[in-house]
Amino acid sequence: MRKNIVAGNWKMNKTLQEGIALAKEVNELLAGEQPACDVIICTPFIHLASVVPLVDPTKIGVGAENCADKESGAYTGEVSAAMVASTGAKYVILGHSERRAYYHETVDMLTEKVKLALANGLTPIFCVGEVLQEREAGKQNEVVATQLASVLALSPADFSKVILAYEPVWAIGTGKTATPQQAQEMHAFIRGVIAGYYDEDVADNCSILYGGSCKPSNARELFANPDVDGGLIGGAALKAADFKGIIDAFK
Ligand code: 13P
Repeated sequence: MRKNIVAGNWKMNKTLQEGIALAKEVNELLAGEQPACDVIICTPFIHLASVVPLVDPTKIGVGAENCADKESGAYTGEVSAAMVASTGAKYVILGHSERRAYYHETVDMLTEKVKLALANGLTPIFCVGEVLQEREAGKQNEVVATQLASVLALSPADFSKVILAYEPVWAIGTGKTATPQQAQEMHAFIRGVIAGYYDEDVADNCSILYGGSCKPSNARELFANPDVDGGLIGGAALKAADFKGIIDAFK
């Protein structure tokens, strides 16, 4: 069965000391209870080795926000999937719209990243989503289907390890959340594409998270949709209380 998941994406925020403080705070807020969903925090690379031992691994998984599309070698400044895994991190966000737009990550590069993540035992949190112009032109389904090619190239066994996140670019950091209906429509479309490519079972078992201005006040309504299995949280993941408020939407 698919899991409900709330994952934080810290993006390029928090110094090491601030990140350690935030991870400790999230850990403490969850200390007295078992959250009703899986909880993941994805941090900048340099935080990983410090954050992993700070959190209770039975409640909080830790992930990176990216990894290289090459295994190892002369790629100055890159961080490999093996390096991420060696910190004890279990997840990696791949294909975030900010990586696609600002760092020109293509479907082919992301196919490589997904393969390397899986080969190193990491669970990819694979992001898809259209920009405003594409939605206004009615092309959102086409765009998302094309982006999904990086994970639909996988064997069914490997695909079953992937978490998907639908993040409409126009909703990221804008305060403009997709309506629950818009989220549900796209999540159902994505599940249909997976069912068509693999089968109903594989599609049913895939967790599809929503991301884009998700906060404690709208999380419950978004997560109530049958095909929305949780959230990938940016801004609201930077405040422990807000992040906890979103986790509590599953209570
Ligand atoms: P916000 O929650 O800040 O809109 O960011 C969403 C996001 O991009 C998570 O990956």
